[in-house]
Amino acid sequence: MSLKRVLSGIQPTSDSFHLGNYVGALRQWVALQEGHDAYYCIVDLHALTMETDPALMRKRTLASAAQLIALGIDPNRSTLFVQSQVAQHNQLGWIMECITGFGEASRMTQFKDKSSKNGSDSTKVGLFTYPMLQAADILLYQADLVPVGEDQRQHIELTRDLATRFNSRYGQTFQIPEGFILKAGAKINDIQEPTAKMSKSSGTSNGVIELMDTPESNTKKIKSAVTDTGREVRFDEKEKPGISNLLTIHSALSGQTISSIEKDFDGKGYGDFKSAVAEVVVEYLRPIRTRALELLEDESHLITLLSQGAAKARVVAAQTLDETYKNLGLVQ
Ligand code: TYM
Repeated sequence: MSLKRVLSGIQPTSDSFHLGNYVGALRQWVALQEGHDAYYCIVDLHALTMETDPALMRKRTLASAAQLIALGIDPNRSTLFVQSQVAQHNQLGWIMECITGFGEASRMTQFKDKSSKNGSDSTKVGLFTYPMLQAADILLYQADLVPVGEDQRQHIELTRDLATRFNSRYGQTFQIPEGFILKAGAKINDIQEPTAKMSKSSGTSNGVIELMDTPESNTKKIKSAVTDTGREVRFDEKEKPGISNLLTIHSALSGQTISSIEKDFDGKGYGDFKSAVAEVVVEYLRPIRTRALELLEDESHLITLLSQGAAKARVVAAQTLDETYKNLGLVQ
């Protein structure tokens, strides 16, 4: 029996990934390497939907690769690559655009949120067609599973709809993928504004815990995290969003259940709890940051690894694209 395929992607839009990326998605990327055929993609073309600086783009793409390897993606087991190095993503992206309804695309909440914030003049057409490129990313690899955080659920649903539509019009071509979205940790919130998701684009700078930030800075941020009224350490997302978010983070990284953490802090205050969360987070991230910084010292090694990944990815992507063109009646 052949192994199930996994595909996921992350944008190289900042110098560091954050704890939401890690707990919501990247940790599952690492776990799913076991027993699966995994493809992981740094989606630089998606990042172009926002204004970008060429020097930063290069730096952040390499920093993304270094962090992914440092946190456990093994380039010998998984195919780790950069999206723009595999031209089939754009080619299948166009086909996806041609089977997506305008209304259907207009209902994507991430597009609605971002475009309403930026206004229509600075919103790029690429942001509108972004989910169709994402569908192409997934379908090119015939992925069975797509590990992502909660915020990507609607894009995965669209991908499933597009694949089903294509298969029924033009014959079986694509595997219908399933989102792999955990119940706990699929949405980590900003620690200064605990009702909004932790986000590199919209978060507050003190509310986002970065993998590459110094231990001192992350300790300081967590110790000054916003808490709630009362003084009881109890999981209650409605009444205590700040404490609940910190409990989720602690539990995800320490492996302790939420109820056992609640018990440990019975009768203690928020201050003690925040110090404990800071220690768990900082000690967890310390070796990842150190390893990523080491890897970044040898850029040419990272570039070689990524081009080897792209060569492997192209083989699968080319096969799917050929099949797609053939089924569409495009003369090759
Ligand atoms: P991106 O780059 O914004 O985020 C990468 C992954 O991190 C997850 N995530 C979170 N999870 C929990 N809590 C949070 N606060 C949080 N913030 C981010 C995201 O759900 C995601 O899994 N469109 C995608 C990139 C993409 C992709 C793909 C994903 C492009 N092509 C194909 C899967 C398959 C995005 O912008 O993720």
